Amino acid sequence: MATDKIQIFDTTLRDGEQVPGCKLNQDQKIIIARELDALGVDVIEAGFPISSPGDFAAVDAISKAVKHATVCGLSRAVENDIKCAAESLKNAKYPRIHTGIGTSEMHIKYKFNTTREEIIRRATAAVKYAKTFVEDVEFYAEDAGRTDNEFLARVCSAAVAAGATVLNIPDTTGYCMPFEYREKIAYLRENVVGIHKAILSTHCHNDLGLATANAIAGVEGGARQIECTINGIGERAGNTALEEVVMILNHRMGNTFHTGIDTKQLNRMSRSVSDMMSMPVQPNKAIVGDNAFAHSSGIHQDGVIKNRENYEIIDPRMVGVDHSSIILTARSGRAALAYRAKEVGYDLFKDELDVAYVSFIELADRKKEVTEADLSIMLSGLFKARA
Ligand code: KIV
Ligand code: ZN
Repeated sequence: MATDKIQIFDTTLRDGEQVPGCKLNQDQKIIIARELDALGVDVIEAGFPISSPGDFAAVDAISKAVKHATVCGLSRAVENDIKCAAESLKNAKYPRIHTGIGTSEMHIKYKFNTTREEIIRRATAAVKYAKTFVEDVEFYAEDAGRTDNEFLARVCSAAVAAGATVLNIPDTTGYCMPFEYREKIAYLRENVVGIHKAILSTHCHNDLGLATANAIAGVEGGARQIECTINGIGERAGNTALEEVVMILNHRMGNTFHTGIDTKQLNRMSRSVSDMMSMPVQPNKAIVGDNAFAHSSGIHQDGVIKNRENYEIIDPRMVGVDHSSIILTARSGRAALAYRAKEVGYDLFKDELDVAYVSFIELADRKKEVTEADLSIMLSGLFKARA
């Protein structure tokens, strides 16, 4: 059965790189852009070219380096920004200018001190101007999450009439509930004039921990592009995590949707971004955290040793992790100890296991985790002849 493709728009190098302490140099950005290209993302947002000469140079260099993905540069709805973005993208095989303006009452009143009509005028002018440089223009309605749907549909209709190919509906402040975001996207699908000429995109922030749920709700409402970052990094609490939405689409919604991502590269990609940005991944992070496929309680360990699927819904190899791990702690039982002992060369008989377990629990009560080295030392002390 044919399934709909969801475009994966990665903004690790733009929204992600805005995170304090995550600044990358140009060589690092090129390495990550190449890795994203190999991972199979459809769009790489490479930076915000007007923001600094360094960002401009990085977008230019990434445009030259990337072979398959569209390369995108961010701009405000300001001619100079757009011109600068166009210049930095001139060597991209598939260039896209991303331009837009705030549309919520909050932004209209306190950021721009202007009127709704003026916002529509500026949005139209920005898209038209961007179209003089490139065919592929994405329009963002900043703070769309808090924008009244009727006005949002008017702005989006104007952007499509001006030539926008993608309509980005950011929940900039991470405000929406999934049902609201789904309804917002569905409303736009119904009410934006000429919507068949553009695709709707999600861009969700994680202030309430809902970025992934909202992106998926957006897809249910009719969005066909998801903006996301590796490890969910981004402004404040971050963005939708690429690895999470990809695995949800792949694993739970695969009858309806697909992406172009090679999921086996997800773990390596996560580590590469984390290392280069010196931004650790929380151990319990879904899909790519150190503990995502690690089992530490005795009941779970026993279940996993009997059949991995007792406690795992994803085969770790699907995301590039060799195997599930059984972590030895004071909560572990005999099954886990026997399993790990076998891994280090000790296939224990029942009476030996009983002896080993007593020593193991003593050791585990003193240490948070009994490592492979601890285990080997303990077992060789107990069973010298069997080593
Ligand atoms: O969160 C946001 O609104 C953004 C836009 C600039 C796309 O990052
Ligand atoms: Zn953002």
